[in-house]
Amino acid sequence: MSRYPAIRVLPELLTNQIAAGEVVERPAAAVKELLENSLDAGALRIDIDLAQGGIKRIRVADNGHGIAADELPLALARHATSKIRSLDDLERVASLGFRGEALASLAAVSRLSIATRQSIAAHGSRLEAVGGDLSAPEPVALEGGTVVTAEDLFFNTPARRKFLKTDSTEFGHCEDAVLRIAMAAPHVAMSLTHNGRRLWQFDAGEARARVVAILGEEFIEASTGIDESAPAFGISGWAGLPRYSRAGRDQQYLFVNGRFVRDKLLNHAIREAYADVLHGHRHPAYALFISLDPTMVDVNVHPAKAEVRFRDSRAVHQFVFHALNKALSRPAAETAAPIANPFAWVSGHANANSGAEIRSQASPAPAIAAWTGARQSSFGALSANEPHAFYERLRGPGADHADSVMTSPGREAMASPADVPPLGFALAQLHGIYILAQNAHGLVLVDMHAAHERIVYEKLKSALDLSQLASQPLIAPIPVSLGERDMALAESHHDFFVQLGFDLAPLSTREMAIRAVPAMLPSLDAPAMLRELLSDLAEHGASRALTEKRDEILGTMACHGAVRANRMLTVPEMNALLRQMEETERSGQCNHGRPTWYQFSVSDLDKLFMRGR
Ligand SMILES: Nc1ncnc2c1ncn2[C@@H]1O[C@H](COP(=O)(O)OP(=O)(O)O)[C@@H](O)[C@H]1O
Ligand SMILES: [Mg+2]
Repeated sequence: MSRYPAIRVLPELLTNQIAAGEVVERPAAAVKELLENSLDAGALRIDIDLAQGGIKRIRVADNGHGIAADELPLALARHATSKIRSLDDLERVASLGFRGEALASLAAVSRLSIATRQSIAAHGSRLEAVGGDLSAPEPVALEGGTVVTAEDLFFNTPARRKFLKTDSTEFGHCEDAVLRIAMAAPHVAMSLTHNGRRLWQFDAGEARARVVAILGEEFIEASTGIDESAPAFGISGWAGLPRYSRAGRDQQYLFVNGRFVRDKLLNHAIREAYADVLHGHRHPAYALFISLDPTMVDVNVHPAKAEVRFRDSRAVHQFVFHALNKALSRPAAETAAPIANPFAWVSGHANANSGAEIRSQASPAPAIAAWTGARQSSFGALSANEPHAFYERLRGPGADHADSVMTSPGREAMASPADVPPLGFALAQLHGIYILAQNAHGLVLVDMHAAHERIVYEKLKSALDLSQLASQPLIAPIPVSLGERDMALAESHHDFFVQLGFDLAPLSTREMAIRAVPAMLPSLDAPAMLRELLSDLAEHGASRALTEKRDEILGTMACHGAVRANRMLTVPEMNALLRQMEETERSGQCNHGRPTWYQFSVSDLDKLFMRGR
């Protein structure tokens, strides 16, 4: 006889209670399981009724295909499912459920009742399960569909119950679960009631209408639509533009084959796509729907199926990254549409009243093409040959001091809208920081350094993608004195600097000569940039510097190369900058994700001055 307790098979109720810990750890998880069952049953209408955060009661009523009366007890048995029969089925499962655990788990930890009726049945059947004990099914009056009611969750597992939070916290989680399912199933009408109050009601409709109902018109207006497909995958939905970024992750809806997921790999792909346009402390908002062949994804990783595994995770990552990156890279004139509320970026909320002014997906104005020819490629000088006639017209008769902020061209003097490029013509520079410009809508305010920094940065990236950066030899080499570490770094990374357009030669043990600088950044403070690049290099390690940290390195260079605050620009220089912004990808945000320009429409300004129009 052993001195230790003997091995025994656990009673069924206990195993179900253990499983319940994973499958229905809180009311929201039960809500999710019940809603998934309704969707799997082909329901087109689902009504959810909760009491006390779902702890007191969860009721989900659907008009799906129902359960045959004689199978009702089986529906509550563990590992009993109508959705798969074999391993083969499991590997290509398209339903949301398949583990046959949810109802059994819920029956083990609540007072559960199911009433159901298939359309061919003469009447409905109802069955109760309290703490695992099943009643005999009895007839009940019911139209087609299923009503599942779970009351007093965890009433018989007090330890579990203790982990529940307040009613309102639990309700919040339930609401999230409902909204996620609602977003994924726009064709299903749904309602959510809590403590007798109807809080959400969705009509059946298109995906866009459902996204608007959940995230608001502000989101859609400030987002870019995505619809890409490759032979193996598809992605559709809406990605919030950087100016609609949020302080938290509350508006991130990501679905794989209709299933809400939080997936590290996909999150990484999305974060990467936003990395270049979004400030590091902000979070993007999105509603993205990824579809792929069910055999390409394993959903049986986690009892609650919150995680998935992709068969070819690299391909999925690439696909998602590229689709998003492409959508987010549309140049300023296309996506960074007029914003009536200049604080939209700060609060994460665009002004709802400004909806009509925001055009998130306008195609590039024809004016861009017309003006492309006028641009000059030299970045340092920022000069451009603007046709002078436009200027004269813009400035109006007699206004010959365009350099002054007092210039007031008057509306009638505006060139006809078709002639005006999207970001308009520069009027003046304000405090050495901002450019004021006039376009067809009204006033454009540009952060000159931020905008130029992005332009230089994008230029550097494309140049480096093609080959190394072009180099500009200096007539007189510039000596720079460096510390021991920096001397060693500079010497051992000769090639790195050559790639960036530098030519360095040691003059002594503590002195380096800069003999050539990147041709794109002629006016830079070469010693300062060299020092900063060396410190980047020391921090990131050389091997990663030009691969993973390439963008940061180029960002450092762009910052040095961009026009500084307080540099006075001439009007043609300002216009050159505006034209370059119109052509540059992602120019609506600087490298750090801050906005580079805002639009104030004439009607915004009229409102400001309470001018009735
Ligand atoms: N709302 C419903 N409408 C129709 N059938 C349902 C519904 N809910 C559950 N069922 C049936 O009960 C079975 C068990 O449900 P569940 O325990 O959630 O497991 P699973 O969903 O993994 O199959 C399902 O396979 C399905 O046949
Ligand atoms: Mg289920």
